[in-house]
Amino acid sequence: MAYLLGIDIGTSGTKTVLFSEDGKTAASSTHEYPLYTPQNGYAEQNAEDWWNAVVNSIQDVLADSAVNPAEIKGIGLSGQMHGLVMLDADNKVIRKSIIWCDQRTANEVNELNEKVGHDKLIEITANPAITGFTAAKILWVRNNEPQNYAKCRKILLPKDYIRYMLTGEYATEVSDASGMQLLDIPKRDWSEEVLQKLNISRELLGKVYESPEITGEITAQAAALTGLKVGTPVVGGAGDNAAAAVGTGVVEDGKAFTTIGSSGVVFAHTNNISIDKGGRVHTFCCAVPGAWHVMGVTQSAGLSLKWFRDNLCWGEMETALLMGVDPYYLTDKAAGAVPIGANRLFYMPYLNGERTPHLDPNARGSFIGLSTMHKKQDLIRAVMEGVSYSLRDCVEVMREMNINVSDMMACGGGGSSPLWRQMLADLYNCNVKTTHNTEGPALGVAILAAVGAGIYKSVPEACGAIIKTNREQSPVSENVGKYEKAYAMYRKLYPAMKGIFAELASLTVDS
Ligand code: XUL
Repeated sequence: MAYLLGIDIGTSGTKTVLFSEDGKTAASSTHEYPLYTPQNGYAEQNAEDWWNAVVNSIQDVLADSAVNPAEIKGIGLSGQMHGLVMLDADNKVIRKSIIWCDQRTANEVNELNEKVGHDKLIEITANPAITGFTAAKILWVRNNEPQNYAKCRKILLPKDYIRYMLTGEYATEVSDASGMQLLDIPKRDWSEEVLQKLNISRELLGKVYESPEITGEITAQAAALTGLKVGTPVVGGAGDNAAAAVGTGVVEDGKAFTTIGSSGVVFAHTNNISIDKGGRVHTFCCAVPGAWHVMGVTQSAGLSLKWFRDNLCWGEMETALLMGVDPYYLTDKAAGAVPIGANRLFYMPYLNGERTPHLDPNARGSFIGLSTMHKKQDLIRAVMEGVSYSLRDCVEVMREMNINVSDMMACGGGGSSPLWRQMLADLYNCNVKTTHNTEGPALGVAILAAVGAGIYKSVPEACGAIIKTNREQSPVSENVGKYEKAYAMYRKLYPAMKGIFAELASLTVDS
């Protein structure tokens, strides 16, 4: 039997999963690491922590599964996107990695717009200048830590640093490179024009591959540390969302997925490139060679409900502990007892600003319409509905771009709630399904490794053989009409509050 290894270098930890060639999990191991916030809005991690977690988790799965490393035919890497790893001439990490959710680069976003131009950036990189993307972080280091920038010889993304440690190769692949804002997204290669205008040398960047291509092999040094076999091929892999798409079978037109994790993502596959001129959604190369995806992001999706639970649901949390159930089981039950529209209560899920469709770091969460008749269960339902309306906002932009979704998968913690999935089915007016294997990104890159190793001919063929779906929920026509009315109301809230959010951001009442 052939085996494939999927390694997902996430923000809270690295998850390594060993799969048999038919996609069954043989062993899985997760090792966590810290996130550093040295200042408000900063977010950094130690690249060495990722590497230690990768080494330890590979050792674990080899020990737990007792699989002979020679049977592992390929390795795929996935991970958090956008993070900046800088190596010096001795291939040592120069500084902590500035990761995807870091927001320090407002000045550098202006610099990007001045040097490349807002419209040109959207034309070439398919996205407006964004604080979280890598280009702005590179400029920040050059502007604020010139001594570090002078030492830098290579720039890598988080999973590509792990690739370097495993194979000795400086390489990336199109899906993750798309989030650097240096890639020509239609051409699937570094943009000479953007690099030149920003005065960043191409020499600093790795070679760009398609996701299932082999990028290198396990070195003797990495083999000695991990227990893997020297020469095991490592394929390009994919950024976490593109990898999750493969892991849920979203690899053809008409297919899409919604993740309700801490953040929320609506991801739609497209064989023809489509770029929103307004920059409201991201267009990235996807892990299927020659195809793209359009992605909308709700910054605080599951995080909204977690925030509500942690601050206002202590009783439910205690009861859940006594009953031996997840607290979200109780919040689901409470919200399920409230009618659609939460008795005219609305919630805007902008706890940490918003990406799609407003791209507004100043936006903040709000309840609108509170009355003495409302109980906690109404608030819980309003939170779940508000997140769902925000995800519908993403779908609306996609519909405007003629990307029509007929098949929607639901993933992430929130995707396991039948009530939340029904909200999505009713609001999107399409069927919503889940997958049998919930390993998402790790399974996705293991599938890419299977294609790279020649076990399957193409990514869609591999997904067809491996991914099994279950639990389809269909829209209920009576609900669809009700949600349409409520969503129309929700759409009016942000424009009415936009100016207030901007004022609120600079309000000081104690000086
Ligand atoms: C994608 C994004 C996140 C990160 C971390 O644009 O910011 O999905 O990759 O998970």
